[in-house]
Amino acid sequence: MHNNSIIFLDFASTTPVDPRVVEAMMPFFDQMYGNSSSTHQFGQLAEHALEESRRIVADYIAAKSSEIVFTSCGSESDNLALRGVAFAERDLRGASHILISPVEHHAVSNTAIQLQELHGFEVEFLAVDQYGIVDPDDVDRRLRPDTAIVSVIHANNEIGSINPIGEIGKICRSRGVCFHTDSVQGAAHLPVNVDELNVDLISIGAHKFYGPKGVGVLYVREGTPIYPILTGGGQEQNLRAGTHNIPYIVGLAKAFELARSGYKARHNNYIQMRDQVVNEVLETIQDSKLTGHPTQRLPNHASFIFKNVDGNTLLMMLDAAGYACSSGSACKTGDPEPSDVLTALGYPREWALGSLRVTLGQPTKPEEIDGFLTALPDLITQIRELVPH
Ligand SMILES: Cc1ncc(COP(=O)(O)O)c(C=O)c1O
Repeated sequence: MHNNSIIFLDFASTTPVDPRVVEAMMPFFDQMYGNSSSTHQFGQLAEHALEESRRIVADYIAAKSSEIVFTSCGSESDNLALRGVAFAERDLRGASHILISPVEHHAVSNTAIQLQELHGFEVEFLAVDQYGIVDPDDVDRRLRPDTAIVSVIHANNEIGSINPIGEIGKICRSRGVCFHTDSVQGAAHLPVNVDELNVDLISIGAHKFYGPKGVGVLYVREGTPIYPILTGGGQEQNLRAGTHNIPYIVGLAKAFELARSGYKARHNNYIQMRDQVVNEVLETIQDSKLTGHPTQRLPNHASFIFKNVDGNTLLMMLDAAGYACSSGSACKTGDPEPSDVLTALGYPREWALGSLRVTLGQPTKPEEIDGFLTALPDLITQIRELVPH
């Protein structure tokens, strides 16, 4: 269903595919449809597109082409990073301790928890401050000789906060421990240079930056101990079996190119609208709080909690009023429990259940923000009157 009268303010959940990306992808469905592993000319054309896409992604993050692994999504990249390194590190040097932040996306946290519950690893959670940010000194204190991998989210999907990845990575490197960051949100908006971030592994997903859904990247620094989790053919440096999805890989590279070349220019525009949303919501709505850091956050991301407001009711009422937003992460919608992230930040239930995430995108216009800011306070009042506390 496409409804032009509904304003989309949920660009952290996904983005529309840029028409230039669609155009780049199209010939690889029905004209250059070869299997990149085939030796004939169809295969060579596909392989050329694959390797060119790899080069583009590698160049933008200052990596080598051989360090880029194409996957089927951000979640798969996170899974490969955690499972692949955890199993290799345990095998190679008996390391079975996994250190993650308590504000990871479920693709990281549920993977770590399964490694603990089914495979005997020990998962330890780092502390976060009131904004959901990890202190590098805490990483330093908790690292152990048997730590297999550390994973800290680059920019948080729910609350927008940006972690000091470069500093954390420096500490992990000095202690010889693999460091992964989930940059599925971050790579759409922030500089991603693997050497400045001091990372061994980075997860990226195309659909957050106007690329197709169902394709991602895991950057794997040369020399990182890692086993494949999808075994079969030798594709992707033996780390990810499966015939290459060339149209989607080409689409990811094109979208990344477009996102990388324009993100600095878009920043100011986003920040202006984001700050308008934050300031007006906090001013006009009683018992409202910003979640995440006020400035060290994604430029397009505003997130709130409202006391004694049911977040899902608010989303339904906003939808009826013509605004598509989210409460926390898209995956949380419909779940009556407060999110793990808001719980980790220590918010009581009567606050944490009333979360709202407003994320801006390339098509967002200032007048849409004005309309949203006019509609929201009344909706909150109505919900509070519906169930008086
Ligand atoms: C921070 C973060 N990590 C991982 C994912 C999962 O990515 P995908 O939907 O491509 O599997 C998302 C998607 O919302 C995300 O925001």
